[in-house]
Amino acid sequence: MRILYVVGTRPNLVKTAPVIGALRARLPDAGHAIVHTGQHYDRQMSAVFFEELGMPEPDHMLEVGSGSHAQQTARVIERLEPVLLDEEPDLVLVPGDVNSTMAATVTATKLGIAVGHIESGLRSFDRTMPEELNRIVADHLGDHLFLHSDEAEENLRAEGIPEARMHFVGNTMIDTLVALEGRFRELGTATRLGAEPGGYLLVTLHRPALVDGPLLGETIERLGAVAAEIPVLFPVHPRTRKMMEGIAAANLAGLTLTEPLGYLDFLSLIADAGGVLTDSGGIQEETTYLGVPCFTLRDNTERPVTVRAGTNTLLGLDPAAIATIPQQLGSRDAGRPEPPPLWDGRAAERLADVVAGLG
Ligand code: UD1
Repeated sequence: MRILYVVGTRPNLVKTAPVIGALRARLPDAGHAIVHTGQHYDRQMSAVFFEELGMPEPDHMLEVGSGSHAQQTARVIERLEPVLLDEEPDLVLVPGDVNSTMAATVTATKLGIAVGHIESGLRSFDRTMPEELNRIVADHLGDHLFLHSDEAEENLRAEGIPEARMHFVGNTMIDTLVALEGRFRELGTATRLGAEPGGYLLVTLHRPALVDGPLLGETIERLGAVAAEIPVLFPVHPRTRKMMEGIAAANLAGLTLTEPLGYLDFLSLIADAGGVLTDSGGIQEETTYLGVPCFTLRDNTERPVTVRAGTNTLLGLDPAAIATIPQQLGSRDAGRPEPPPLWDGRAAERLADVVAGLG
């Protein structure tokens, strides 16, 4: 059996690393090859993650880089096809919901190669999100769907996807977190950056709906006001950094901005945060697992399980709502809730069981 893993972005690496580890252990005689599309290419967005996650070096680099959705997607399709023809895998595994995921799914299925989708079944029901379109393609074309939460099953069933394709294995991103917990708990990254553990708001923003238009300036202004009550630590994604070039330095003065951080440092900052403000998907999950209050600056979430767990609050796509965070933090119950079903550090093992059974 030959298995080919296609990764492209920072969160893809976090979701796939434990799967590669589990499958190499379960099927040592199988072929395992990694393709990196190069959707993310900066050292801090990619290479650092390979190192920290102990991932083997990619066997193929497609170097697609940045571009419009069509350009990025087209480059992956065009450059992946010859790799698949050459490698002749029996199974292509794709994680998440980024352009690389969708492009790899289309390329492999058109060649008649089976595709397994890691983190299947999430839906925001918002078709203006590129990730929602990517998920729908991966779930409808994919042959083996590895469900990440119980609500995923209902979503897929409602779209007429046959039960036989679904495998509820759990959340592989949490596998990585569990595996790294001993290491990141010892780092004290907040202290190193001059913040007091438990006493700061950690911020990440990168979605086009928020950062590519006027909402970004308003968000920064609101964050500046909140920083008077609780220090704000903000590692800035490259997309956001680019869009922030037009913002006056005075408006950024109260915020502690950093470059994108490695995963261990970032998990250390989440674990020690008083609260987190984000528009990311994965961070809604990590805060839920760690029991840290999360405020999501979006109108919807494809991860309602995190809201039900009580850790995640949807603020809406409304920068004005940022002003309510200090008060909401004050009234939060402390404590780590029970994680959602199968977010237990063993999702990749269950996934490997399924793949081994395909034989
Ligand atoms: C992508 C995913 C998003 C995911 C996010 C995680 C899609 C449609 N979006 O968004 O779902 O949550 O990754 O971070 O696939 N850039 C760099 N260096 C890099 C990577 C990007 O400078 O290593 C800059 C480029 O200027 C680029 C911009 O960031 O134009 C956006 O990168 P892109 O890959 O298009 O999407 P993300 O916003 O990262």
